[in-house]
Amino acid sequence: MKKEITFTLNNEKIMVEADPKWTLLYLLRDVLEMTGTKEGCGYGECGACTVIIDGKAVNSCLYPVMEAEGRNIVTIEGLMSRDGELDPLQKAFIDEGAVQCGFCIPGMIMSAKALLDGKKDPTDEDIKESIEGNLCRCTGYVKIIDAIKSVAGGR
Ligand code: FES
Ligand code: FES
Repeated sequence: MKKEITFTLNNEKIMVEADPKWTLLYLLRDVLEMTGTKEGCGYGECGACTVIIDGKAVNSCLYPVMEAEGRNIVTIEGLMSRDGELDPLQKAFIDEGAVQCGFCIPGMIMSAKALLDGKKDPTDEDIKESIEGNLCRCTGYVKIIDAIKSVAGGR
């Protein structure tokens, strides 16, 4: 049986009915039609489904939907400003040529965003650690790391 949950999604408070058996990923993609968050493996291995919950990067495919109650959740759709301007991280990924097929990129950017929101001037190791749960089949990671570095420290 469905139950009501209330949480903040991309700066807007929302109330939805959810089946306690759902994952947060299912709610986001299949019910709310926010398809920026990707479903890859579905069991916590690839990071394609990463969203930010209360400041931390989380695999939404493993996150029970009822746990969202009262939380502050940000998806890739929430990074763009109200006037349609991309987040500096999104711009950096484009500028550095860090995107190929793009499937991993929303999750990758959300992991990097959680890092940079918590640590303005991360080391290379911090950057690598922040994305170690995000798999990319295409880029070889070098350009992705360059893109994150180009934004780190307010550069
Ligand atoms: S889809 Fe969630 S970690 Fe792969
Ligand atoms: S850009 Fe294709 S999987 Fe990362």
